[in-house]
Amino acid sequence: MKTILITGGAGFIGSHVVRRFVKNYSECHIVNLDLLTYAGNLENLKDIDKLPNYTFVKGDIADTEFVGKLFDTYHFEGVVHLAAESHVDRSITDPASFIRTNIFGTFNLIHAAKEQWKGAMEGKRFYHISTDEVYGSLGETGLFTEITSYDPKSPYSASKASSDHLVRAYYNTFHLPVLISNCSNNYGPNQFPEKLIPLCIHNLQHLKPIPVYGKGENIRDWLYVEDHASAIDLIYHKGVIGETYNIGGNNEWTNIALIRALCDEVDRQLGRAQGSSQQLITFVKDRAGHDLRYAIDSTKIQNELGWKPSLQFEEGLAKTVEWYLQNSDWLENVSSGAYEKYYDQQYIQR
Ligand code: NAD
Ligand code: TYD
Repeated sequence: MKTILITGGAGFIGSHVVRRFVKNYSECHIVNLDLLTYAGNLENLKDIDKLPNYTFVKGDIADTEFVGKLFDTYHFEGVVHLAAESHVDRSITDPASFIRTNIFGTFNLIHAAKEQWKGAMEGKRFYHISTDEVYGSLGETGLFTEITSYDPKSPYSASKASSDHLVRAYYNTFHLPVLISNCSNNYGPNQFPEKLIPLCIHNLQHLKPIPVYGKGENIRDWLYVEDHASAIDLIYHKGVIGETYNIGGNNEWTNIALIRALCDEVDRQLGRAQGSSQQLITFVKDRAGHDLRYAIDSTKIQNELGWKPSLQFEEGLAKTVEWYLQNSDWLENVSSGAYEKYYDQQYIQR
């Protein structure tokens, strides 16, 4: 049985990827390595955690000795690497953990893979999941392509850019069989409510203010998380070694337009008067160094691998609101304790 390591599988995107791999590839053993930071939650995987081809391991990718031993124990055929510190606002207040996990943690994984696969790289794959934020910020026009120069602006995106460079360096120097993808903003079930969409749904449910940074004119390109998971599956199995693939929804929204659409959807699903939730919109101090616009050109993965997003945004947003409203226990559990403290610190200063 082939064994595939998925890192960060208890997080938002990772949990959708783990579920997909465990269910679709029952002939493979899937090992999910996750430190279970505030963003990792095994509740996300309770529907599959008893399946025979699934194993969870709690551990830190930044612990060199632990990572080396894990590779010795399991002899992985492939790695899908998602574990990361992923929130831009936290990277502004606590950059050190981003450097440790995103840069040093990625280094530990590629180095362990290189050591184990030395002289036997055939059939192996190290797939590094990255973000479109490494390309920096667009003006009003243009799209990020795979050859756009890196120009990261936040400690988060700079740490992801560094890890991308390391992964490419291991391909060029040691012929490590790598793949990289850079995806736009994801949304959908199981996202920690520090990110825009679940944060808004949570606040709307509790009639709390919706904090819009600056004028709400920043633009993001939104993709449903299961469409990202399907792209990851395709790239892992069919992507060309050494290549990079951009993944995006071709779905640009200003934050304020997105928030208004969310308010209307919540009103509709909760039977509130249309327009009532929009009164909770509150403009707050802008994020430091706030990137204006991200937008992805995903022609390469569409033409070369035949991928395309399955959901229209309106449908995806309705499904997402419905999931959070029906899983308010999940939302309340992850929103308690340490998160409440973070929320108070993050939003009180404005
Ligand atoms: P997330 O924050 O929801 O999950 C990250 C997971 O990594 C958590 O389960 C956490 O416990 C785990 N983790 C953190 N530090 C760890 C460590 N030192 N060792 C082991 N595990 C650790 O993140 P996400 O939104 O699911 O993002 C997953 C990946 O996708 C990241 O690499 C991110 O950069 C990338 N990405 C995210 C988006 C997005 O919109 N969320 C878009 C493009 C790319
Ligand atoms: P976020 O979900 O943090 O993703 P990213 O910064 O990685 O794109 O934020 C999405 C957009 O929403 C971004 O332009 C910042 C903005 N935003 C707000 O206006 N208010 C908020 O409370 C948050 C968390 C984000």
